[in-house]
Amino acid sequence: MRPFDIIDIDIFGESHSAEIGATVTGLPEGETFDTGKVAEFAARRKSGKYLFSTPRREDDEAMWEGAEDAGEGVLRIKGALTVRILNSNIRPSDYSYHVTPRPSHADYCARVKDGDNAARSGGGRFSGRMTAPLVAAGGVAKQLLERRGIRVAAYIGELAGVEGKGYRDGELSYDDITACHDRALPMLSRAEEAEAAAKRAAQAGDSVGGVVECVAFGVPAGLGDALFGGLESKIAAAVYAIPAVKGVEFGAGFGIAKMRGSESNDPFALKDGKVVTLTNRSGGINGGISNGMPVTFRAAFRPTPSISLAQRTVDLDKMCETEITVKGRHDATVVPRAVAAVEAAAALALLDAVLVREKELDRKLF
Ligand SMILES: Cc1cc2nc3c(=O)[nH]c(=O)nc-3n(C[C@H](O)[C@H](O)[C@H](O)COP(=O)(O)O)c2cc1C
Repeated sequence: MRPFDIIDIDIFGESHSAEIGATVTGLPEGETFDTGKVAEFAARRKSGKYLFSTPRREDDEAMWEGAEDAGEGVLRIKGALTVRILNSNIRPSDYSYHVTPRPSHADYCARVKDGDNAARSGGGRFSGRMTAPLVAAGGVAKQLLERRGIRVAAYIGELAGVEGKGYRDGELSYDDITACHDRALPMLSRAEEAEAAAKRAAQAGDSVGGVVECVAFGVPAGLGDALFGGLESKIAAAVYAIPAVKGVEFGAGFGIAKMRGSESNDPFALKDGKVVTLTNRSGGINGGISNGMPVTFRAAFRPTPSISLAQRTVDLDKMCETEITVKGRHDATVVPRAVAAVEAAAALALLDAVLVREKELDRKLF
């Protein structure tokens, strides 16, 4: 599938198939990445790392093809890069939602689209499990960006209605954000309150949603283009690929609609001979092109659709209304594990924009 201009990423497999993976083309040949660093990043998406994740545990060991050994766990990209991840902990019998679809999961739409071929277990290709290869590919993109001075970091801005600190409250550094990645919930503040609110819902058999906020530091001015070539469109397209994302906003986002121009405009200034803006309500992008300030955006995640409370649905075989109680192993909230997926999607989109710019300038940006 091709949401980008140069990078092409095909994510294959299903939640309960033998393996899942991704093939990425368009990455610069000859550049290297550290597989240990990718594994460290991917560990932030694995269940068990943060509170409220599914009891399904997977090793998620990545097997790489299309790259040659450069020693000490480093691989050199040779062409199309493929990452394969085994599904070892599958339990297809947990699911029969192609007949009685779960409200707001993809079961009904998958059956309409795929008919009898629709996956019958674990959400098929719509499952949150598909973010494992996305994160592996994004882990490579992050390293290629870092070589160019661009670092992407995300955190939970809101969980179960509890709003923590975020980029809209003042300037954040990369270290401010990464410091929260090893906590039980990757939030900058109010994690205990969010935990309590999410626990209350989970104990009631319910689920909660939240917002992941992301900042890309060191993005040079000049990435992106006008109209359909916009950097916002590119990042949003990648982030919407993550299951359960229902909204994406940049900078001040929807809040900007309530401001006056004098509040929403980001005044230009000079700092150490460089053009900067004194505020960043635009999220580092004007006219679809990066302006040199950090790129900031928020992604809204819905509450996990699979809840154990009784819900109304339709029996598609008998064509009658009925009720279901969802069984199987599910995240009470997908938000903590989705933080790495958001970083990965943003990194792939930004890397694509960088590669376009490098082609325009006919030189690397490092
Ligand atoms: C990391 C992650 C884990 C997820 N885990 C679950 C889960 O355990 N149960 C579930 O019903 N949905 C889960 N989802 C969300 C569904 O995959 C998603 O809501 C569904 O495919 C419908 O897509 P949509 O919400 O984007 O419309 C997860 C999503 C992510 C990103």
